[in-house]
Amino acid sequence: MTPLRAVKGMNDVLPEEIGRWHRLEKAFAETFALHGYREVRTPCVEATPLFVRTIGEATDVVEKEMYSFRHHDDALTLRPEGTAGAARAYVEHGVQNREPVSRWYYFGAMFRAERPQRGRYRQFYQAGAEIYGDAGPCSDAEMIDMLVGLLHRLGVRGVEVFVNSLGSGDTRARYKNELVAFLEPKRASLSEDSQRRLGTNPLRILDSKDERDRAAVAAAPTVIDCLGDDDKAHFSGLQRSLDALGTPYRVDPRLVRGLDYYTRTLFEIKADVPELGTGNTVVGGGRYDNMVAELGGPNIPAIGFAAGIERLLIASSPAPTRPIVDVFVAPLGEESRAPALVLAKELRAAGISTEADTRGGSLKSLLRRANALGARAVVILGERELAEGVVELKDLAAHAQERVSRSELPRVLGERLRASPEGSEEQG
Ligand code: HAM
Repeated sequence: MTPLRAVKGMNDVLPEEIGRWHRLEKAFAETFALHGYREVRTPCVEATPLFVRTIGEATDVVEKEMYSFRHHDDALTLRPEGTAGAARAYVEHGVQNREPVSRWYYFGAMFRAERPQRGRYRQFYQAGAEIYGDAGPCSDAEMIDMLVGLLHRLGVRGVEVFVNSLGSGDTRARYKNELVAFLEPKRASLSEDSQRRLGTNPLRILDSKDERDRAAVAAAPTVIDCLGDDDKAHFSGLQRSLDALGTPYRVDPRLVRGLDYYTRTLFEIKADVPELGTGNTVVGGGRYDNMVAELGGPNIPAIGFAAGIERLLIASSPAPTRPIVDVFVAPLGEESRAPALVLAKELRAAGISTEADTRGGSLKSLLRRANALGARAVVILGERELAEGVVELKDLAAHAQERVSRSELPRVLGERLRASPEGSEEQG
C-alpha cells in the first residue's frame, strides 16, 4: 500500500519544533497586548466573493492560488489571508458603534496553492494585526516601529523596512494608465507573464523578478510622481513619524504588493538572510481605507500587516533548548510504581513539571530517560525509601544526591528550581 503523506506544501510541526513556535507566538501576543491590540478569531473558511471583491479578481492570489470549493449552494474558500475575514467580522458585528478605534490581532493558518519552496508553503501561518478607525499616518508609523522592535527582540537578522504610498481616490488608476502608456511600446521586451499583466494587472510588472521586466521598468514613472497633495502630506507624515521614532526605513517607490485593496501607506519588512533567498519578505502590510465601506460598512479607514511565522523562524536566532520537564520520578521495583504516580501528581499540583516513569527499567536506563527529557532533578523511589517515607533526590545539574523526606519534597524542589529558574520556563 502506498504510504499516506501530508499534502504537498503543507507541513507537520513536531513537538521538538513547537517550542520555537510558542516563543514566537508569545512574543507577538505580549507585544500586541503592550500596544492595546486584542485577539480576534475568525473562521478558516469564508464565502469566495469576500476574497474576490477585496483582494481583487486579477491578483495572483485570486486567479491562481485559492482553495475554493462548492458546498451545496455555497461557493467557499479556505482563507488565503486574514484581513478580508477580519474586516467582514468588523462590519458584520457593527464594531464601530462600540468604539471609535479598534486594534485587533490574529494568529492562524492561511492557504494558498503556490509552488512550494523554502519559506513558501500551501498552508502557512501568519500573525497579523489590523487597526480600524484611524486614518494615520501616526498609527502607520507606530505599527511599523512596533514590528521592528519585535523582530529585533526575536533576533531576526538583516531587518530592513521598505515603505511606499499608493495614494487614494483615483491615484492608482491614473498611475496604472501612466505605467501602461510607458510599457506598451516595450511590450515585446517583456516576459510572457508581464505581457499578459499589461492588460490585467500592470502594477505586478513592477515586482516581477524576470530580468527582462526589470530592465523595462527601470525608468518607468513611479506612483509617488502621481500622488495628490493630501496623499503626499500623508506620506511625508509617515516618514516624519518614523524619523521621530528612530525607525530606519527606505522609501521604495516601486513597492506595490500583490493585493488590490491597498491605499496610501504600503510597507514590507525583509530579513536579509541567505536561508530565505529572494522570498525574504517576512512582513507585509498597508492601508486599505476603502474595504470596510466596500463590505457594506461605514467609511472607516484601516491599516494592518501580516507576518509569516515560518519565514520568521528561518530568519530568527535559534532559541536555547529548554527541558521538557523539570523533574523525573524514577520508581525502582513494582511496589514503587503507584506511589511514584502519586508523588508526580503532588509535584505537579505544586506547579513543578514532572514525568513519572511508567514502563520500568534499570536505574541506569531511567537516568538516561531523565537526561533526554532535560530534567533538572530525578526523584528515586525504591522500596526502602517507600518504607521510610523518604526519597533520594538526585540533582543532575549539581551532580549531587541527598535523602529528602517525602513530605518536604515539593517545597525543597520548588526552592531549588526557583533558585536557578532555567528549568521552569516553557520548552523552546
Ligand atoms: P501578504 O504579503 O500576502 O499580505 O502576506 C504577508 C506575509 O505572509 C508575507 O510577507 C510572508 O511572510 C507570509 N506569506 C505569504 N504567503 C506565504 C506562503 N505561501 N508561505 C509562507 N509564508 C507566506 C497579507 O496576507 C495581508 N493580509 C497583510 C495585511 C494585513 N495587509 C493589511 N492587513
